[in-house]
Order: sequence, then C-alpha cells, then structure tokens
Amino acid sequence: MSNVTVVGTQWGDEGKGKVIDWLSTRADMAVRFQGGNNAGHTIAVGDKTYKTALLPSTVVQGKLSIIGNGVVVDPWALLDEIARARSVGLSVTPENLVISEAATVVLPLHRELDLAREARAGDKKIGTTGRGIGPAYEDKAGRRAIRYADLADPAALSDRVERLLAHHNPLRVDLGLQVLAAEDVLAPLSEVYPLLAPHIQPVVWRRINNAIANGRRVLFEGAQAAMLDVDHGTYPYTTSSNTVSGQVSAGAGVPVQAMGRVLGIVKAYTTRVGAGPFPTELFDETGERLTRGGAGGLGAEFGTNTGRKRRCGWFDAVLVRQSVELNGVSGIVLTKLDVLDGFPSVKICTGYELDGESIDYLPARLCDAQSLVPIYEECEGWTESSQGIRDWEQLPEAAKRYVRRIETLVGAPLFLLGTSPQRDDTIVLKDPFEG
Ligand code: IMP
Repeated sequence: MSNVTVVGTQWGDEGKGKVIDWLSTRADMAVRFQGGNNAGHTIAVGDKTYKTALLPSTVVQGKLSIIGNGVVVDPWALLDEIARARSVGLSVTPENLVISEAATVVLPLHRELDLAREARAGDKKIGTTGRGIGPAYEDKAGRRAIRYADLADPAALSDRVERLLAHHNPLRVDLGLQVLAAEDVLAPLSEVYPLLAPHIQPVVWRRINNAIANGRRVLFEGAQAAMLDVDHGTYPYTTSSNTVSGQVSAGAGVPVQAMGRVLGIVKAYTTRVGAGPFPTELFDETGERLTRGGAGGLGAEFGTNTGRKRRCGWFDAVLVRQSVELNGVSGIVLTKLDVLDGFPSVKICTGYELDGESIDYLPARLCDAQSLVPIYEECEGWTESSQGIRDWEQLPEAAKRYVRRIETLVGAPLFLLGTSPQRDDTIVLKDPFEG
C-alpha cells in the first residue's frame, strides 16, 4: 500500500501545509476528505508562499487534486482561491481539480448563521472561523443540504432550496437576520455554477479506487486535527466534522485499508485558536515567546486563515498519545522545533491530575477537561539554532533528546522533522511513501 494519510494530532495549525506539500512532490494525487475553508495551509516554496484552504496541496505541482464528498465547499471561497492560485502562476483546470458531486455546498446563509450565533453566544462562543462550516454540516446531517450534484438540475434545486429555507428562515428571524426568498439563494448559485461545473464530477470515489488499484500514490489530506474532531475532541469546542483518519473512508469513498500509512503531524509545543480546554496553556512570558515564533518570528502563531492569535503552551504528550491511538498513527512529523531554540529548559506534560487523581487521557466531560492540572517533566534546552538543519546528526544534542523523549511518550516513531517553513528544510528519517 503506497498511500499516505495526514492528520493533525493537536488542535490544528501543526504545520500540515508544509508536510503535505513535501509529500505531494512524491504523490500522484491528493484528496481532501473533510472540513472546508476553515482550514488554512501555508506552503512556502523558495520565495513564494501559497495559502490554501480548500484546494488540495497537489495543485502546486499541477497534479490531480480531488475535493471529496466529505468536504463542505463554499463555491465563492473556492473560486477566489482558484483565482489566487492562477495569479501566482499555478494551472488549475478541470483535469487537475475535481470536486465530488456529492460534496456539500456552503451558502452565505451558513456563514451568516455561524456569525450570528457566535455573536449571540457572547463569552460562551466557540470561537469558530466564521466560515459557516458548522451550519453546513448540520444541514448535511439533517438531510436538507444542497449538494454539488443538485446544481445541475434547476427544478430539483428549487425544491431543495425551499426545503432548506423552511428550516433556516425561522432561525434567521430569531437571530434578527433577514428572511430569505428562494431566489435570494438561487440567483447567486446560478452565477457560480457555470464556473465550477467543469470541475464537478460523478463517481469520484471510483476514480480514487481505480487509481489505487493501478498503483498510484494517493495522499489523503486531513484538515483541522484530532482534538477538534466532533466525536473525539474537546466537545463542544470542536469543529463539526470527524477529523480522525477513519474519516478517509467515508469522506473520500474508499475502504478503510486505503488510507495507508497515517502520518500524525505534531508541533513541538501546543497551540489552539478559539475557545475551549487547553491544559498546558501558558499565560506568561514563555507563552508570549512561543506566540512570537522562532528567531525572526518565522513561526509566529497567528492563524493562516483568520489571522487570529493562537494560544500557546508546552508540549502535551497525553493528548498526542491519545491522537496516536485514535488515528492509528504509523509515524509522526515533528514541526517547529526551531521555535524552542534558546529556551533554557523545555517542559513536557506527561499526565494530568483531576480531583487529586492522576489520569492519562483527556476526559470527555467539559468541566473535567477544564479542570486538569498538567504534570510536567523538564528537559534541558539548547542554545544552538536548529533552524534549517537537514541532517539529524547536526541537531543540538539536547534537541535530539527532546525529540526522542516525545517519540517514547506518544508511542510513535519520528518519520520527518521540519526545521523551517521551507519545503526542503526537512530531516527525513523515513519516507512515508517508501518501504
Ligand atoms: P469551525 O470549524 O469554523 O466551526 O470552528 C470550530 C473550532 O475549530 C474553532 O475553535 C476553530 O478555531 C477551530 N478550527 C477550525 N478549523 C481550524 C484549523 O484549520 N486550524 C485550527 N483551528 C481550527
């Protein structure tokens, strides 16, 4: 099996973009299987930086890029992204960008609902990306969503929109939003549909399965991360999709065995955006220093997509170990190690205390997850720079010990280690597509 699935192991923003880009040079095609434009990947190649949200990373290589049925796709956001990709010289065509006709359409009414609910929730808000992702998945589960296949049939689409509005208009009234007529939804859709129609394809799942049968290397690109999974994350402070590796099967239409090796992306410390439990969060100068990123602020912790400042804290081995188990992680990719350069010592959370008892998992009950006291072990820091190093042997000795300790605590071997945002600043211990 020569496929690779990439998942985040923390709360997102682990640096998946760079890893996915590195892998996409080795893959034949990439498939997104969940999430929407709440994701945000930054890909740096030479002096060029690409920011993607919906487009699979293989667009940078001009290879086949598939947006699977499990993705919720805002057509306006996608068109903007395609235009931006073309403006930096990338070729996006119906041959290399395919959207599953079973993917769900994110509409402006989803965004409005997301934002209005968050505004009403005040200090109880989730801190969503405001892209309408939650409401779109709600409509999907409620069987009233518009799917890309519906756009081809105006009569059926009208019916679907009526049904959708019967649900949304009472909510809109309650939130002080304007009531919508079917035409308010249909007219904008009729403008974007012709632009996307050449990319919308039937039986995309078979195309992926056939590619696998023919020995093609498929990269399944996860977005967000395990601790934001709607079942396994810090619910209700999660996203609205399943983000764990098992979702590859449902969200792309392939058997579970197709996911191949699972690569868990692990940041060398912990961050999260939005609200919710975060046991190792730091509120002091150390937290600020992590937010500023490594030397020169290369890794500064501000969201790719929304520009929000990320909350920062020490590495939490308990939650990454949980992710390793939930996802069946074969190997980890450690990112942003260079941000820790120059710290006199670094801490790792190895367990939690809850009501005087020690536990080794993130509890499902919100009030428990909010009351955890991290148990730390302290590791020696390193003064030398690890930035840009491409050979394991050249890493500072204390940095090597820190990485080896992480492997042991999370229960998965290191495959790759990133030492700067650049694609080639990567130490390869094992190529996930090989062997
Ligand atoms: P939503 O996915 O926009 O509904 O947001 C729900 C939660 O997931 C919020 O805490 C967001 O900040 C978080 N979230 C969603 N997508 C990402 C991501 O790609 N990286 C990090 N956090 C994310």
